[in-house]
Amino acid sequence: MTAQTQTNRRPVILTGDRPTGPLHLGHYVGSLKSRVTLQDTHEQYVLLADTQAMTDNAHDPDKVRRNVLEVALDYLAVGIDPAKTTITVQSHLPALAELTLMYLNFVTVARLERNPTIKEEIQARGFGRDIPAGFLCYPASQAADITAFKAHVVPVGEDQAPLIEQTNEIVRRINHQVGREVLPECKALIPEFGRLPGVDGKAKMSKSLGNAIALGASPEQIKAAVHSMYTDPNHLRVSDPGQVEGNVVFTYLDAFDPNTEEVKALKEHYRKGGLGDMVLKRRVEGILQDMLAPIRARREELAKDPDYVFDILRQGTAKARALTQQTLDEVRDALGMFSFEARR
Ligand code: TRP
Repeated sequence: MTAQTQTNRRPVILTGDRPTGPLHLGHYVGSLKSRVTLQDTHEQYVLLADTQAMTDNAHDPDKVRRNVLEVALDYLAVGIDPAKTTITVQSHLPALAELTLMYLNFVTVARLERNPTIKEEIQARGFGRDIPAGFLCYPASQAADITAFKAHVVPVGEDQAPLIEQTNEIVRRINHQVGREVLPECKALIPEFGRLPGVDGKAKMSKSLGNAIALGASPEQIKAAVHSMYTDPNHLRVSDPGQVEGNVVFTYLDAFDPNTEEVKALKEHYRKGGLGDMVLKRRVEGILQDMLAPIRARREELAKDPDYVFDILRQGTAKARALTQQTLDEVRDALGMFSFEARR
C-alpha cells in the first residue's frame, strides 16, 4: 500500500510511551483519555517504546521489561480497547530499527544536538559529556516509529513537538530526493488542557519527582497525595483571602470536576476569604477516588491474568510487524537500494 492509496482509510494515529514506570494522572489527562475517544474515529496504534526507554536506561533493562506489562495494564484499565487499538512492543518490530539506521543518514549530528527536546532532556539527566549515542539519536528512531505506521496524527505533550518537526524534516528530505510522496508528513496533536502539575505544584507530574498519583494508586495513596497538595502558602487562616492561580487544588478541579459552575463559585469564595483548603481537598479527593476506583479494579483484575495481556501484545505486535516491514520495503525500494527482486 502506498501513501496515496491510504486516503480512503481512517486517519492513522500513532502514540507511544516509554515503559519506565506505571502511568499516572498526568498521562491520563495528557493523552490516555483522548486515545480512548480517538480509537472510535481513527486507525490507532500505541507503541510500548521499550527500545527508546533503553536509550537512557541501558543500565537497567529489567526495569524497562517489567514496565512493559505495567503500562499495558494501564492502557487496558483506562479503556484502550484492543479490538479498536493495536498495542505493540517496539523492540519486537525489527523494521523500526532498520528505518532508524536509514533515517540517521538524513539528519545531521548538529541538528540532533540542536533539537530542543533532546537538549532539555540531556540537561535534566545530567549526562554532561557522556551522552549515550542512542539517546542523542532517538529522534531518528521516533521518526521511524511514526513513519513506519504512516501516521497522520501524533498526540504528544508540548515538550515533544520538536520531535514531530524533526520527523517531518526527514520525511521531506526523503520525499524530495525520491521525487514523490513515499511517506506522509504528520501533525502533532497537543492536548488542550496542557500539562497536569504534580501534587507539589511543580510544573510536571512525574514518578521520579515523587509528586504523581499513579492510575493504580490505592485509596490511601490517593488520599495522602491529595492532602499533601500545594495550595496558597499565604492562606493561613480560613478567613484569609486566598490565591487561585498556581493553587494545585484548583488546577485539579479545573481538570477533573465536571461542575464548572460550582468550581467558579468556589474560586470566588476562596479569593474573598472564608473557604478552607480542607473543604477543597476533600472535594478533589472525592472526585479522584470515584474516577480511579473502576480503573484500579479493572487493573487488578487484568493483573491476575498476565497471559491474556501478553496475548494482546503478541497479536498487536504481529499486525504491526507486517505493517512496518511493508513501509521499510517501500522506503528501501523508493531510495533505489539493492533488490533481489528487481535485480539491481
Ligand atoms: N518519546 C515519547 C515519550 O517519551 C514516547 C514515544 C516513542 C513516542 N515513540 C513515539 C510518542 C512515537 C509518539 C510517537 O513519551
